[in-house]
Amino acid sequence: MQITLKQPDDWHLHLRDDAMMQAVVASSARHFARALVMPNLVPPVTTGQAARDYRGRIEEAVQAALPGSGFQPLMTLYLTDTTDADDVVRAAADGTILAVKLYPAGATTNSASGVTDLDKVMPVLEAMAQNDIVLCVHGEVTHADVDIFDREARFIETVLEPLRRRLPELRVVMEHVTTRDGVDYVAANDTHLAATLTTHHLMINRNHLLVGGIRPHYYCLPIAKREEHRQALVKAATSGDSRYFLGTDSAPHTRSSKESDCGCAGVFNAANTMVCLAEVFEEAGALEQLEAFASLNGPRWYGLPPNSATMTLRKTDSARPVPEPVAVGDEWVMPFDPARPVYWEVV
Ligand code: NCD
Ligand code: ZN
Repeated sequence: MQITLKQPDDWHLHLRDDAMMQAVVASSARHFARALVMPNLVPPVTTGQAARDYRGRIEEAVQAALPGSGFQPLMTLYLTDTTDADDVVRAAADGTILAVKLYPAGATTNSASGVTDLDKVMPVLEAMAQNDIVLCVHGEVTHADVDIFDREARFIETVLEPLRRRLPELRVVMEHVTTRDGVDYVAANDTHLAATLTTHHLMINRNHLLVGGIRPHYYCLPIAKREEHRQALVKAATSGDSRYFLGTDSAPHTRSSKESDCGCAGVFNAANTMVCLAEVFEEAGALEQLEAFASLNGPRWYGLPPNSATMTLRKTDSARPVPEPVAVGDEWVMPFDPARPVYWEVV
């Protein structure tokens, strides 16, 4: 069995910088034509100039790792309390950035500079709405009194819904949705709201993380939820509804920083995302929807043409191994182990 689809894009990717970026970028560039690159570097990418510089470094790393690759990084800006609206509008108008990313302060890896109060960024959000610049949100509240498993649902209720009432023209992507509440919220709304879904949240639930020993390589944010939520995500991804599309949230950390007494959040799935997705979509009886999810819905949302190249995936007779760890200096980055056999390969 095999399927051919338009080459996929990744609408949520962490490439990091320097040696880590040089080590991991080929894992994305081998399969994806484009990726929306997250701006949570240290320090974060907060200005149009910083985004142009970062894009240049990525392009250089791509050519060093895979000479001749056509992989195109699409850039985002990291919204802070002091972001300059004019800079955002200029960076979008000249094609430097495709979207702006909202991290609530303290929500996840490298989010210390995130937004502390939405009122502070209302002028920027208003300018974005006027200029049709997409806002990508990390949809979790960060209050210490909110349970980590409830943070997404609480964000929808207390932040996202009020924001969308205030600025209905703003186009918003709920990134890496992990709950039934998230997919239901998208389904119940209009064309100005979409969601990305990650590879790992379509495959693992919180038992994978916590039963039989703690598995730091499954720790990511938002944290994996109950099985019923995973099933709701699979239903959304395989539905063909154009408001759901792939954002892998591939987020490399070194092995030692994951296997630690305070391990980092992030799953590195760039290398095996497409074969994992083929497995998930096949199991759901929806292989014919994989192209919409991975290759068509994202460009449509961002007003870009789909890719013209294609990718073929083939089902083999024996389970394929998890990709090899990637070396970064004298450290390793461990690829996502999907916790089940994967029979698909990229031809
Ligand atoms: C991401 C990272 O490591 O940058 N981690 C993660 O668990 N997903 C940040 C993020 O997207 O939340
Ligand atoms: Zn992310």
